[in-house]
Amino acid sequence: MAMMAYDAVSAAAFAATRHLPVEGLASWRAAVARHLPVGPGVRVLDLGAGTGAWATAFRSWYDVDVVAVEPSAAMRAHSAYPGMVAGRAEALPLAAADLDGAWLSTVVHHLPDLPAVAAELRRVLRPGAPVLVRSVFAGRGGGVTLFRWFPEALRVLDCYPSVAEVCAAFEPAGFAPVALTPVPQVSARSLKAAVDGLRRAAHTPLALLDDADYDRGLRRLRAAAERTPDAPVVDAMDLLVLR
Ligand SMILES: C[S@@+](CC[C@H](N)C(=O)[O-])C[C@H]1O[C@@H](n2cnc3c(N)ncnc32)[C@H](O)[C@@H]1O
Repeated sequence: MAMMAYDAVSAAAFAATRHLPVEGLASWRAAVARHLPVGPGVRVLDLGAGTGAWATAFRSWYDVDVVAVEPSAAMRAHSAYPGMVAGRAEALPLAAADLDGAWLSTVVHHLPDLPAVAAELRRVLRPGAPVLVRSVFAGRGGGVTLFRWFPEALRVLDCYPSVAEVCAAFEPAGFAPVALTPVPQVSARSLKAAVDGLRRAAHTPLALLDDADYDRGLRRLRAAAERTPDAPVVDAMDLLVLR
């Protein structure tokens, strides 16, 4: 079963608040370029592309063609990236051996049949092409500041796959891990901006909290923002690369 539905409400919340300030993504830009082929003629799959923020960034940073696949009609309707393709990771509507790399950003926890996804990625990627997974993994949530204010949401991470589980699911399709590294990002210019922009429906771990835990966390976050309104919010998420 899907962890959460990307319907009209969550898609609108996601589009409004989860597009990271592009100037805070310098470390991601460099980290991705270490593993993904770049330049004209390169074709990259953005799988579970959401509202197209990364597809847009990759095209502008690396001058690559991005094939952005997204199952939710509501997310596609909010997309900043033109030509988003309707499709699911388990049955990609794409030709075989046609792509030079795949990018999955905060998607793996939504994919209950990871071995089927790995087999599809093996089919659509050229031999040797990398799969780049940006995620919080079970047991590795320490770099995400949101959990400082909403510690109960760390429990939700137990439902996310671990690095070992993702690697085991990809191994039968011939993928092996080649890199695992936490990558920092400026998620919000200030704590005040983070509070003002927070939309519960845009964050799976917050959407799955009970209301009392969410309200307590929001009070903690607001109090912190009153103490240090200008402090930037810096998070680290993992980049796992398989080939
Ligand atoms: C947290 S959003 C991430 C969106 C985008 N990758 C980003 O980082 O901005 C998760 C996305 O995964 C998509 N998703 C859920 N199940 C999927 C599936 N079976 N195949 C492909 N994408 C899926 C959702 O529709 C949603 O857009």
